[in-house]
Amino acid sequence: MKARIAILPGDGIGPEVTAAAVSVLRDVAARGGHEFSFSEHLIGGCAIDAQGDPLPAETLIVAKQADAVLLGAVGGPRWSDPKAKVRPEQGLLRLRAELGVYANLRPVRVHPRLAELSPLKSDRLGGVDLLFVRELTGGAYFGAKTRTADTATDETRYTTPEVERVCRRAFQLARSRGRRVTSVDKANVLETSRLWRETAQRVAHEFPDVALEHQLVDSMAMLLLTRPAAYDVIVTENLFGDILTDEAAALVGSLGLLPSASLGDGTSGLYEPIHGSAPDIAGRGVANPIGAILSVAMMLRYSLDLPEEAGRVEAAVDRVIDAGVLTRDLGGEAGTREVTAAVLAQLAALA
Ligand code: NAI
Ligand code: MG
Repeated sequence: MKARIAILPGDGIGPEVTAAAVSVLRDVAARGGHEFSFSEHLIGGCAIDAQGDPLPAETLIVAKQADAVLLGAVGGPRWSDPKAKVRPEQGLLRLRAELGVYANLRPVRVHPRLAELSPLKSDRLGGVDLLFVRELTGGAYFGAKTRTADTATDETRYTTPEVERVCRRAFQLARSRGRRVTSVDKANVLETSRLWRETAQRVAHEFPDVALEHQLVDSMAMLLLTRPAAYDVIVTENLFGDILTDEAAALVGSLGLLPSASLGDGTSGLYEPIHGSAPDIAGRGVANPIGAILSVAMMLRYSLDLPEEAGRVEAAVDRVIDAGVLTRDLGGEAGTREVTAAVLAQLAALA
């Protein structure tokens, strides 16, 4: 197959981890006879430096035309003056909104070898395999804001179609996994949550083979710590999802391991590791590339329709962890290049 892939390395360790992920994509292309073309564009702090705009027009145009977009990370101390008019994160928020990627997918699995890095006891971690589906383009983050000297408001607004589309995506995804969806809301207090719950219930009728359960967000925050293995797909609104996905990420022990995909109605999508630009380790060749590599596995599955290749990349990463080729965040001594080379070697072995 042919695919045009836009690469937005961004700041800090972004260029290091996206380079690793691109080398995996090149390997997959060479082995399968696929033609992937790559083009690199500016986003975030480096784009502010070069053009005064965290999302230059050229970047946005290419990202919209691409079959998939891979992003590293944006931001860093150089651009974090709170009084600055333009900030790197604005580029990322605008990119997500412009691409219409309303469903943010974050899988969370705990590799048995890494269980000791988790703050939870390892007997709680066996079988943890979660997929969060967070609504990404609505709710409080995009609602009207007001401010006077001593009063501030952030409007949380959801429409039925907005809830339907993200819930439908969650149910579809559950079909390829454990066939269970947990919808998280605060329906005992919030009107938007009551709309959310009714809508999730209605969408569930389209998927009689998938079980739906509701949880209140405060209760879910506890259950993620007490019974994390009991859940499969968890769907929720933007603000609750932001908080719960960070809580779930902490179960794994390092941010460097976790991928994400943001999807809209078409097949294209935005893929990024969940970590930030890690300025403390940038440019030293020690960043963990696994979050970025697993993000391109998601790209292969959801945007490029190459599920077998996606599974092979994930299996290769598992074997590298099993073999103990680990970066420092995981207690090892391997560099970004060593881990990437080990993944490529396992891909060759699995082919
Ligand atoms: P961070 O995720 O960049 O780093 C947190 C800690 O995890 C640091 O100690 C870092 O060294 C470590 N870490 C992160 N990724 C790693 C990797 N792949 N391998 C090894 N260690 C890794 O979060 P932090 O420090 O809060 O933010 C740094 C900058 O990144 C800020 O400017 C922030 O705004 C930005 N940021 C950007 C995000 C994005 O582009 N999506 C997301 C989160 C933060
Ligand atoms: Mg967050």
